[in-house]
Amino acid sequence: MRVLISLYLFQKNMCWIYGYMGDATNTHQILLRWLNRLEYRGYDSAGILVGYGSEQKIVKSVGKVSALTNKVSSLIAESDVYTYGIAHTRWATHGGVTEENTHPHTSTESDIAVVHNGIIENYAKLKKWLIEKWYTFYSETDSEVIAKLLEDNRDGELLSTVEKTLPMLSGAYALLITHKESPRSMVWVRLGSPLLFGRNKDGIYFSSDAQALAWVVDEILHLEDGELAHIHEWNYSIRAQGKNIFRNLEVFDEKDLLVSKWDYDHFMIKEVDEQPAVFKRILKWRVNIEDMTLHADAFHGMQNENYKKIVFVACGTSYYAAFLGSYRIKQIAWIHCDVEIASEMQYLPLDVNDETLYIFVSQSWETADTLEVLKSVRDKWGNTFWIVNVVGSSISRMTDFGLFTRAGAEIGVASTKAFVAQTACIFLLSLFLWSRRNLTKWRHDQLLQWFLEIPDLMEEIFEQKKHIQSIGEELSKYTDIFYLGRWYQVPIAFEWSLKMKEISYIHSEAYPAGELKHGPLALIDENVPIIFLHPKDMVFHHNTSSLQEVKARKWLICEVWGDGEDADWHIPLPDTLDELSPFLTVVVTQLLAYYCAKRLGRDIDKPRNLAKSVTVK
Ligand code: AGP
Ligand code: GLU
Repeated sequence: MRVLISLYLFQKNMCWIYGYMGDATNTHQILLRWLNRLEYRGYDSAGILVGYGSEQKIVKSVGKVSALTNKVSSLIAESDVYTYGIAHTRWATHGGVTEENTHPHTSTESDIAVVHNGIIENYAKLKKWLIEKWYTFYSETDSEVIAKLLEDNRDGELLSTVEKTLPMLSGAYALLITHKESPRSMVWVRLGSPLLFGRNKDGIYFSSDAQALAWVVDEILHLEDGELAHIHEWNYSIRAQGKNIFRNLEVFDEKDLLVSKWDYDHFMIKEVDEQPAVFKRILKWRVNIEDMTLHADAFHGMQNENYKKIVFVACGTSYYAAFLGSYRIKQIAWIHCDVEIASEMQYLPLDVNDETLYIFVSQSWETADTLEVLKSVRDKWGNTFWIVNVVGSSISRMTDFGLFTRAGAEIGVASTKAFVAQTACIFLLSLFLWSRRNLTKWRHDQLLQWFLEIPDLMEEIFEQKKHIQSIGEELSKYTDIFYLGRWYQVPIAFEWSLKMKEISYIHSEAYPAGELKHGPLALIDENVPIIFLHPKDMVFHHNTSSLQEVKARKWLICEVWGDGEDADWHIPLPDTLDELSPFLTVVVTQLLAYYCAKRLGRDIDKPRNLAKSVTVK
């Protein structure tokens, strides 16, 4: 039965919360270790509070976690004993990037402390009211209002103080709160911004990131939106609207979320290399190789449905995965399919009816634009399906109707293996939908048989890495690059162009090859290399004509696939079916962008101005 979900959307939150309480005496080191491990996330300052009994120390620093680590080591000796602590990496929304604005924020006497993810929408009004009372503020943040309100509502018990304060706040947030006088307790609140808690034999760990918890705990507890938890010693109680709620910890077995760069220079290239393995994992989970059938339960909820229209909703790379998916749904499953950019969809009328299925695609499932559309569709009782990578993300727990892409943790901000996993899952979905609409068995099996070959074909491409690297390095000399493709390659051209922009900072444009003559040709000259995706598919000859248009003007051509006759650079690829060719061209595009960015010395895993989860509307 479908449950109406109510998503409280937070507008900005690229920040992270961590907390620890337990038997360990080196809490400062535990927290710093965590901050360092999740250092790849977008943030601009970091701070920690550590305590032992009523002894507390707060250290804050702007910039990288390494700056905080240095400061902590100058202020706290390794042997100092701290048994609890909270930590935060801030992504400033209210007030500049300064130490004063860095979390934790405290009450006037610094006895109550809070770290906050999200935004308090009515903070200005509350701040004015508190200042009129007598309170002094030391930061420009909305978050400090929470600390001062807690102080104002203080009634001896941390839990009841928090319960009195929450109704005064509007907005979306996750909070972790400590009180000097209750050093063995913490209160954790969740409203629209994730925060989890887990337990192992050494203590209790809090994190706004399920993946980070996977490193340390065996059992995990999720709060639903609007709930708060009071943790005292090893016990916890959950409350919502003044009532107790009973919920057990769940066993957490996502150990494969462990992340390490091994000896790779960057996570991105490691993740590109993992793609054949990701593909095999998807095959293992979704395809029964013995009889060439799909695991129907993977498509739970769809068996009895006959949708006449599918609408994909997503952002960024996930949008391009959906864009490619729309070609396959139309061409393989023969179902009318639209694909919408989530941030635009919010302004368009929603066509919700029994025959339409909305499919939401997201690596992280934290993307505010995508979540907002989901909420609107669910509010109208529309049919929804999700395709998500992060296990433990809110959406996957709110409904059981969807697919995990099982790409494993993706650390590089530029999405690579998640894209391949998304497109593989959508391919299988189109096969499944088609099979329910009289697909001939031989065609079904032919597609699946070739699909099984993809991991090996990807490995073959990796054998050309040196060659691709040399072309990627050549591309780094240009300031503009054009990507052209036709049919199944159009979404790949767009995705490739996005990847190039993200990690190399080189301006690039993608076009359907047929559009070249309708305007973009005016822009191109010998200083703009053309990357031409030219598979030996049904539209090969149409592409050859477009390639000639470029050649006639003596522009630089990098031909991916094709025969290389008219190209300045040529990357040959192994044969596959037309429908599957994007799985190969995308690998080449990822490698070209990577080597180009590497030659330019870019911060590939953490490109400027970008963050892995875009929880900003
Ligand atoms: C991909 O390289 C980008 N970092 C970005 O476009 C991303 O795909 C987009 O923000 C959507 O994220 P999601 O898949 O987590 O929803
Ligand atoms: N709104 C708060 C601030 O600007 C929290 C931002 C965040 O989520 O990091 O400090």
